[in-house]
Amino acid sequence: MKGIILSGGSGTRLRPLTKITSKQLLSVYHRPMIYYPLNTLIQAGIKEILIIVAPERAGDYLNLLGSGKEFGVTFTYEIQDHPEGIAQAFLIGEHFIDNDDVAMILGDNIFEDYFAEEIKSFKGGAKIFAKQVSDPERFGVVKFDDKLKAEKIVEKPQEYLSDYAVTGLYVYDKRVKDIVKNMKPSARGELEITDVNNWYLEKDELSVALVKGEWLDAGTFDSLFKAQTLAKEKIAPKMVI
Ligand code: DAU
Repeated sequence: MKGIILSGGSGTRLRPLTKITSKQLLSVYHRPMIYYPLNTLIQAGIKEILIIVAPERAGDYLNLLGSGKEFGVTFTYEIQDHPEGIAQAFLIGEHFIDNDDVAMILGDNIFEDYFAEEIKSFKGGAKIFAKQVSDPERFGVVKFDDKLKAEKIVEKPQEYLSDYAVTGLYVYDKRVKDIVKNMKPSARGELEITDVNNWYLEKDELSVALVKGEWLDAGTFDSLFKAQTLAKEKIAPKMVI
């Protein structure tokens, strides 16, 4: 299993904090934000990690994280010239993924849970992780049937569908590269991760696990603020980096 951290984008929702740095390098308690998703991948036992960054911030990431030796893993870096969608990561990472399975995590997602078991038991198809939230309209949302089987996934639904958000950790088999190659950008001009998930769902090859611990997407002022306390109280004490 290889790992990808998607850490590009322009962080416009956090201006002016992100005027001179990347959102995922802002501090969350005692570490830059990206340490949290990195810790999640490392604690899941992943050793080869691709970090995708925006061109203007590439030097900062290299200075901060280096080769990966310090963390006992190997980093590869790629540039995303323009933020054209989360799923674009699999085109950028095509050669890196090669013939392996891949776990991708968004650089602003902070999880309390460990995923080693979920990742080690992955046997193909796709696996995503959902969490009940009070503001589902901010996320990709998954609707379950009465047997808790995923029925439908919709990106930021305008009308209420379910309060289970799809979190920013995704595990796919190597087919994901070809799926994205055949996809078209959405109305907002992005290659949508929700379309990838729906491809697997339609083939009945998508499994959805529930996130038991706390989870935050630290992409807004309020969630970034909440992330500080969550990190200090629940995550920092158990981090390995
Ligand atoms: O956090 C989970 C949510 O992330 C999911 O529930 C949604 O289905 C998914 O679309 C995504 O929603 P966001 O509104 O949070 O996406 P955003 O555009 O903010 O991008 C999430 C992170 O990925 C952000 O840290 C920047 C990075 N990113 C995003 C895009 C679109 C990139 O590095 N490149 C990109 O092209």
